[in-house]
Amino acid sequence: MATRDVFEHDPHRPRYHYVAPQGWLNDPNGLIEWKGEYHLFYQFNPHAAVWGAMHWGHAVSTDLVHWEDLPLALAPDAPYDRSGVFSGCAIVHNGAPVIMYTGVNSPHQLPCLAYADETMRSFRKEPNNPVIATLPDNLVYDFRDHSMWHDGTYWYQILGSGDGTNAVAPLFRSVDLLSWEYLGRMIQSDDPINEQLYECPDFFASNGQHVFITSPLPMRRVIYMSGQFDGRTFTPTKRNRVDHGVSFYAPQSFTDEQGRRIMIGWCQEQRVEQACRAAGWQGAMTLPRVIALDAAGDLTYAVAPECAALVARTMVHAKHVSWHQLRHQLTHVASCTYRIALQMAANGAHAVTLIVRSDQSTGEQTTITWRPTTNELVCSMARSSINAGTSHDVYTIPLHHTVGSALSLDVYVDHSLIEVYAGVHTVCTLRVYPNGTADRIDLIAEGDVAITDCLVQHLSLSR
Ligand code: FRU
Repeated sequence: MATRDVFEHDPHRPRYHYVAPQGWLNDPNGLIEWKGEYHLFYQFNPHAAVWGAMHWGHAVSTDLVHWEDLPLALAPDAPYDRSGVFSGCAIVHNGAPVIMYTGVNSPHQLPCLAYADETMRSFRKEPNNPVIATLPDNLVYDFRDHSMWHDGTYWYQILGSGDGTNAVAPLFRSVDLLSWEYLGRMIQSDDPINEQLYECPDFFASNGQHVFITSPLPMRRVIYMSGQFDGRTFTPTKRNRVDHGVSFYAPQSFTDEQGRRIMIGWCQEQRVEQACRAAGWQGAMTLPRVIALDAAGDLTYAVAPECAALVARTMVHAKHVSWHQLRHQLTHVASCTYRIALQMAANGAHAVTLIVRSDQSTGEQTTITWRPTTNELVCSMARSSINAGTSHDVYTIPLHHTVGSALSLDVYVDHSLIEVYAGVHTVCTLRVYPNGTADRIDLIAEGDVAITDCLVQHLSLSR
């Protein structure tokens, strides 16, 4: 395996977001806190920077921010998973960590177990895999990706599946993880055009309700539903996008020892495969996001406070300034790895645009525009790159917060990866590939805006 150092000068590789040492990365898997360490497993092709030969890669962290690479956790080396070790989760059963993953022996996709040792450094597959060998209830579509929880006597799991028309999340229960009883369809879609398979279902209780997160195919957008769960059936009352960027996919969340629900998502590249192959790597993870339902059943997001450990230096801290004054201060910033947090109130402004990854010589720029009058956020990659084969998408996102009030915008820039938080209800991930250095920031307002606080911090891993 190549060391990470070979990518030191790669202008597009994120520096403080998790990326695989090399090769291809997709879904986060098996997120868990165990004995003072957070474990991040992920769908990994160590052989090439394209999808294929799925393994479970493995990294460990004590703070959710600094990740140490560990050897491959699972390889497609058994008869029942020879076509790939697909996504799954990690749980603690009888005091020991256990992985539930999807073993693929094409065309079969079936639930399999692997046991971790005390240190969570070595893994042994269950001799009787797969632990569910046949598909119940006319489920004919793919049958993969696991979300599990424990309730009194039983382990419960849902999977991502479908009946040939609609996406279905079948519900099973077990005492010993080896024999599973089918309980029925926990939820089923009624939109066969967009939702034939619920990829990567993720289900948990929050604030007196339940949340179901999934990445349905063929839609390929991440959605959540919140509502009531009666132990067998989930009845959603609200539904929305999770992250508004199309790069964001297949997130997984877990409850840590502090009781926080923490989500990490896969950020797909938004450039052609040839460019990814040439780069030698593909795919990145978001920063850890603390998620919870609010009283109204809307999902809220906050960057995990541990990310404060990334702050290397404060470049700008301005309070109660006009945008002209702030703009002047921002001209001193030259960085591709930073956070900019803005608190502002529109005093009649109909647009406030934050410009990041800006390059005067190439004209490249990525813009994040708040439109207070229409209560929208517009993230534009239209001019992000002069390179062909990169995304030029423009996302217009309805904002949740009340029209006319203040907005807090928190933007994490890390070379090609940008995470935008607007208030607590809106997140958008962007991937941008400027050809120039594109290390400038700017701010433009149409009309008057009061900047109450602006913080720009240079971010880097401390080791
Ligand atoms: C989602 C997904 C999962 C599957 C895995 C395979 O991105 O397609 O449904 O388990 O990736 O790598």
